[in-house]
Amino acid sequence: MKNSEKPALYPEEFSAFTCEVKVASPGRINLIGEHTDYNHGYVMPTAIDKKIFFEFKKNASDSICRIFSITFNSYFEFNLNDITRSNQSWQNYLLGVTEEIQKIGGKLRGFDCIINTELPIGAGISSSAALECGFASGLNQIFNLKLTKLQIVELSQRAENNFVGSNCGIMDQFASVMSKKDHIILLDCKTLETEYIPADFKNCKLLLLNTNVSHSIADSEYNTRRAECEEAVRIISKIYAEITSLRQVNFDMLSEFKHELTGKAYQRCTYVLKENERVLKASEAMKRGHLKEFGELMYQSHEGLQHNYEVSCSELDFMVAYAKNKNFIYGSRMMGGGFGGCTINLIEADKIKEYSEEISKAYFKEFNRTMDIITVSAGEGTLIEKVKA
Ligand code: GLA
Repeated sequence: MKNSEKPALYPEEFSAFTCEVKVASPGRINLIGEHTDYNHGYVMPTAIDKKIFFEFKKNASDSICRIFSITFNSYFEFNLNDITRSNQSWQNYLLGVTEEIQKIGGKLRGFDCIINTELPIGAGISSSAALECGFASGLNQIFNLKLTKLQIVELSQRAENNFVGSNCGIMDQFASVMSKKDHIILLDCKTLETEYIPADFKNCKLLLLNTNVSHSIADSEYNTRRAECEEAVRIISKIYAEITSLRQVNFDMLSEFKHELTGKAYQRCTYVLKENERVLKASEAMKRGHLKEFGELMYQSHEGLQHNYEVSCSELDFMVAYAKNKNFIYGSRMMGGGFGGCTINLIEADKIKEYSEEISKAYFKEFNRTMDIITVSAGEGTLIEKVKA
């Protein structure tokens, strides 16, 4: 367990805690392919080298589970036979995972768990998926549930859909569990086929700039976008019965329905179709080592998210516009659900220091707010270490 800066005061219940299973569960980045996962399209995520750490131990009880978060310096207990929603959002990710494990017949007993994170929360690098998947992986190990990695991914996504109430796609959980160090995943969210592409950025690095804003409309707008896409699919499938997601819709088909869809719905669908094309082009550019071409597609992705999918915000747009003026930044775009969080930038490594200072000042001047700079590399998915037999 990593130590938090300020030593946490462990609650009484943890005085005799001896770790049996350790888990390190990473956050994720997404290079390109935003809001495509729930439309069964393509994404290019990977886990990062920053993680949430868990320690687990069985306790003597049949059903009482005790959780301590070092990060929040907060303790709670729950009963496996009576799982109810908490008013603390971080707790709901864990409760949701527990419920989903039980729904598929996973036999649990009482356990104690200590959690500590080095992931910034609300920065759009999926601390929530890391929390769900790390927790599920630890329970899988300690109770010998024999869940596959894919089952862990899928039940974690269901926990977020059913218990937390966010209709997220599968990208975040998939990346957190399935990533391979120094590789980017090209994931087909329809078939879950994967290709691991070497993350060879040559003279460049990936730099995240955290706006430090997370606008409150994010969750409701996310669910609205998903509903808009699904409604479009419903209308198109009245004529084309085989269509079950936007993935199967092409531009000709879409224009046939231009007048039956609302202006906004048409705009959203156009973005999704184009973004899927960009991901495929970007993956080819990456394999060929054409980083400038890759970066150009990142800029185009942002433009679509800003103007057509309308999930950006002024802070993110400012950062991307600023990057666009610099020839040593090959690509920049908002990352994740939107309305705040980070931009992801493909930048020449030797310019990072100078640029970070410059944009920090400019951002502060514009918004009277500080931003955070996070350098990341492509890391390994969830890691489990059994400490005691
Ligand atoms: C969030 C969701 C993902 C995905 C992205 C947008 O991170 O959890 O499933 O939809 O937004 O690409």
